[in-house]
Amino acid sequence: MWLINSSIGRKVVMSVTGVALILFLTFHGCMNMVALFSEEGYNMICEFLGANWYAVVATLGLAALAVIHIVYAFILTAQNRTARGDNRYEVATQVNAGKVEWASKNMLVLGLIICVGLLIHLWNFWYNMMFAELVGAMPAISPTDGFGWIKETFSNPVFVVLYVVWLVAIWFHLSHGFWSAMQTLGVSGKIWLKRWMCIGNIYVTLLMLCFLIVVLAFAFGCAPSLCGGSC
Ligand code: HEM
Repeated sequence: MWLINSSIGRKVVMSVTGVALILFLTFHGCMNMVALFSEEGYNMICEFLGANWYAVVATLGLAALAVIHIVYAFILTAQNRTARGDNRYEVATQVNAGKVEWASKNMLVLGLIICVGLLIHLWNFWYNMMFAELVGAMPAISPTDGFGWIKETFSNPVFVVLYVVWLVAIWFHLSHGFWSAMQTLGVSGKIWLKRWMCIGNIYVTLLMLCFLIVVLAFAFGCAPSLCGGSC
């Protein structure tokens, strides 16, 4: 199968799973914005995404996408190192300098930081919510009270700092990953590549700001849902 055996096939798999994960993040970021305005609205969404069969199936699909993306990342990195030795980022250096080059050189390291952050995040939320509901556990805060779990998590400054670092790492990873995926999926020519870099940077920055605003708003107790618009 060319998607497994050929180098371009493996890059296509990386790109398609990466774009699908960005789509998930877009949904997740929009969903989290609701917490800024309405506790009731946010908890309704969390209840809908709780231990229902369709939500569990979606979680398994998401986990499969993430695992495939990570496994292929290791395979492609090993392949690049064997093929190009020290000069393995030739294409990236030709296309752009500075930030993109740095991100492209450090995609695997950034990916590993993101994985550690994701494990902490899943422990903070998924474990206390969907998993707790599935096994019938009774944590201190109700498993469907997503709003309560956000408040609890970001009342701890250690988590606030860890999440900010995590979001910055995701920003770097996605700002390179976005245009790299577009290139693999057929965008060619310097002009179009530059345009996609620009679109990608704007999109990824807005996306990460959605998450960052929620972290900071809950850390400082400053959101309409927390202070009824008087903060
Ligand atoms: C910083 C703000 C964030 C908040 C407040 C937040 C909140 C939540 C909550 C409440 C859940 C549990 C949903 C439920 O089971 O009903 C959850 C699950 C999850 N979050 Fe986040 N999240 C944030 C950022 C992120 C980021 C940046 C990522 C990805 C890199 C991410 C990936 C996930 C994943 C994979 C799940 C499990 C989804 C599932 O069960 O299908 N989250 N998050």
